[in-house]
Amino acid sequence: MNPNEIIAERLVYDLPNILEPVNLRCLFPQEQPLEIELGSGDGSFLTSAAAKCPERNFIGVERLLGRVQKTERKGLRAGLSNMRIVRIESAYFLEYLLPRHSSTAIHIYFPDPWPKRKHRRHRLINERFPTLAAQALVPGGTLYLRTDDSDYFAQMKSVFAAVRGFQAELTPEALASLVTDFERDFNAQGIPTLRAAYRKL
Ligand SMILES: C[S@@+](CC[C@H](N)C(=O)[O-])C[C@H]1O[C@@H](n2cnc3c(N)ncnc32)[C@H](O)[C@@H]1O
Repeated sequence: MNPNEIIAERLVYDLPNILEPVNLRCLFPQEQPLEIELGSGDGSFLTSAAAKCPERNFIGVERLLGRVQKTERKGLRAGLSNMRIVRIESAYFLEYLLPRHSSTAIHIYFPDPWPKRKHRRHRLINERFPTLAAQALVPGGTLYLRTDDSDYFAQMKSVFAAVRGFQAELTPEALASLVTDFERDFNAQGIPTLRAAYRKL
């Protein structure tokens, strides 16, 4: 039997401890290129991407239990064995739990914008973020960003313009066509999606 045909009973990965990097071999039935989504919400992108690309593995990282559970239900209904969800804080996951240079893509779609000036230090994409992304990605791996917030978008672009080691790219059409839950809502209100992509050199 193809190991990808084994239907998992649970897609939520309960971290055995939070001090050691995750053993990716224990996570998926099949070793294949890995993509990460940080702040995966209700899992609309994660489940669509995992269904569309069975030759890749996907991990969604989300801190809210209800959203983690909803994502799991979607993945189980779709019979996906190449998708897992981890309930933890995204930056901590990247820094301490994801094995180094293990991911071919990181997706971050509609991260919380923290619009008040005094709260901006909470934004995930900050001056420190390119170091975490470079640590997580394989050479040639790509970070994909989407937001509705023009101020946060400007910050994302200035953060990556200020570092070496990443090259700006266009988001492929096939990827852009996988719309997330928040994106659908924003677009329905006439708010456009702002996209950026950075390939690790
Ligand atoms: C605005 S929603 C977008 C969800 C999804 N990406 C989409 O586009 O539909 C942001 C999500 O990120 C999660 N989130 C925000 N900050 C986080 C963090 N530091 N670590 C993990 N999840 C986080 C929130 O709980 C929420 O589900």
